[in-house]
Amino acid sequence: MTASPGAVAGGIDDALSAAARSSTPGAAHARHLNAAGASLPSTAVLDAVIGHLRLEAKIGGYEAAEAARPNTESAYALVAALLGGRTEDVALTESATVSWQRAVDALRLGPGDRVVATASTYVSSALNLFELRRRHGVVIDVVGTDETGAVDLAGLRAALRAPAALVTAAHVPTSSGLVEPVAEIGAIAREAGVPFLLDATQSVGQLPLDVAALGCTLLVGTGRKFLRAPRGTGLLWVDPSLGLRPLAPDVRGAVWMEDDSYVLAPGARRFETWEHAHALRLGLVAALAELQAAGPDRVYAHIASLGSLARTGLAEVPGVRVVDPPAAGGGIVTFVREGEPPADTVRALRGHGLHVTSVPASHGRWDLSRRGLPAVVRASVHLYNTPDDITALTAALHP
Ligand SMILES: Cc1ncc(COP(=O)(O)O)c(C=O)c1O
Repeated sequence: MTASPGAVAGGIDDALSAAARSSTPGAAHARHLNAAGASLPSTAVLDAVIGHLRLEAKIGGYEAAEAARPNTESAYALVAALLGGRTEDVALTESATVSWQRAVDALRLGPGDRVVATASTYVSSALNLFELRRRHGVVIDVVGTDETGAVDLAGLRAALRAPAALVTAAHVPTSSGLVEPVAEIGAIAREAGVPFLLDATQSVGQLPLDVAALGCTLLVGTGRKFLRAPRGTGLLWVDPSLGLRPLAPDVRGAVWMEDDSYVLAPGARRFETWEHAHALRLGLVAALAELQAAGPDRVYAHIASLGSLARTGLAEVPGVRVVDPPAAGGGIVTFVREGEPPADTVRALRGHGLHVTSVPASHGRWDLSRRGLPAVVRASVHLYNTPDDITALTAALHP
């Protein structure tokens, strides 16, 4: 197996994978190869969510929240441990997009402020930037890619010779298995004194992250993908040295004083809203605790090894073209079947009990449109997947 960016030593972990399968009800239902969409949660995650909903129904939402508080509060330390950051710099949200919007809103970008973005930028982030350009005259600069498909670091360096207000990159995009050189991006941004917003939505839970080593100042992520948490959970990490204020604080993020002034909550909690799904947060806690217990490095190694196996196996199937760039790694693999729209390939594979998804160019135009790809099929693996799932995928695609 060739080493790939993001791969970590350890390889396929049969024992850990078998344990994950036996504690994941969905693993018996189909070959789920869509962790990059939403992964299968474990029984513990499911029980945490449903258990709390039952408790709310029995004793009331406020009373249930109080009973669960030590557990919900543990989410911050678990996220911080995974990101290598401090507990107080973590905020919990509903999605990566909500986190992104709160972070970017707090930057108060104005006329002429330049945002330097990589081609890996996600659709919703780009749309947010387009609206900021329309309303506030923000300038968007998209840096090109090098021969590996990763951001052209020399181009990024050149782009940052002019003043910029923000650098942003997706660690792993929605549209391929590319792993951006985020530590290098972070170093360049830091050298230029520009905040770096890292979109770790597709990497948190599948690749090692360390906010200090990566040099990012803002990080957003989601629960439902590689963290195996419920849908409707997201996270935000904020470097306190930025001194950011939320655009619209609520009662969770600030205190209303007698004189009609308000005092922001210390730390990143100022970016949260008071109302949220406590049951989902408890599911997130259960998922994070399971990841920690399994050993994140073992999980990352299993995912990266299976991803590598899939990339190699699919490349050998006649009529299938793996369209990941050379700088791909980790557990996401993209491909097309010659002469067949990706959505049809997804439907055909569904008939074989294989769950993959298709990604249209409109979800990542700076990547897919620039590479002339109207859409791709995306397969993505997690701990509950096995080499057998990859064999089944390649067999189903054989002409
Ligand atoms: C790279 C990337 N960033 C951001 C998002 C948005 O995440 P969410 O749906 O949690 O807002 C996605 C979703 O697929 C993504 O792939």
